[in-house]
Amino acid sequence: MTALHRIGVFDSGLGGLTVLNAICAANKGLSIIYFGDTARVPYGSRSVETIMHYAEQDVRFLLSKDVEAIVVACGTVSAIALSELHKTFPIPIIGVIEPACDAAANLTVTRHIGVIGTHATVHSSAYSNYINERYPDCTVSGIECPLFVPLIENGFREDDPISKMIVERYLSPIRNTDIDTLILGCTHYPFLIDTIRETLPGVQLIDIGVTLAETVGKTLPLSKSIGDNFVEYCFSDRETGFRRFDSEHLRSLPNGPIKAVNIESF
Ligand code: DGL
Repeated sequence: MTALHRIGVFDSGLGGLTVLNAICAANKGLSIIYFGDTARVPYGSRSVETIMHYAEQDVRFLLSKDVEAIVVACGTVSAIALSELHKTFPIPIIGVIEPACDAAANLTVTRHIGVIGTHATVHSSAYSNYINERYPDCTVSGIECPLFVPLIENGFREDDPISKMIVERYLSPIRNTDIDTLILGCTHYPFLIDTIRETLPGVQLIDIGVTLAETVGKTLPLSKSIGDNFVEYCFSDRETGFRRFDSEHLRSLPNGPIKAVNIESF
């Protein structure tokens, strides 16, 4: 395969920027189209049919920008739609599930892995299906955290008492269990990672953006050119003001044009 220069990355909103950040930190000379579907976020509370429909439109938009491969920087779309996207579109499309599960299975000592995610992700059993097949000695427990994405999209950061209260509410039931490794199964969740760590002391956390970025580097023949990365940021509604967030999860993002997209037309 010839070297790839131009890739597409998409998510329902802000979360995929944590994946984009990890990709930009690890690579140079790429031209990247990022799409955040801010008009329709959150995806995770919607039906399988709606998520599939949104995912196909997101991919068609990126293909219209001549991308050579697509990174699904969304746990929900990866869980619900990845295999259909592979059947429908003839270009490399990479999702978050497998790299995160492999990383968790390599780390866990108790062989009990937790997965937190959106309603759709947890109900899809995508993480547990993959782990049960590959690592039959592991047990997987899924915990849905439906308020995390709206919290983050609405600008609540982890030092906010409301964020701390919601994290405690969802995650205290798994404190002091034998879960020793937790997959943050949604790309928005790194924005809450310190609070999650405080809530579950001693539990190893898997950031699916980081494991996905490593897989992208290993599986796609990315260009080895040495110039700066170029990113065009596209959103289907207002952009979320992400430039103003002072987060280590966004620090490697280059400046780039911000564009509006009418996603319903794809
Ligand atoms: N970042 C998406 C994910 O990884 C958020 C899904 C949503 O919009 O609910 O699942």
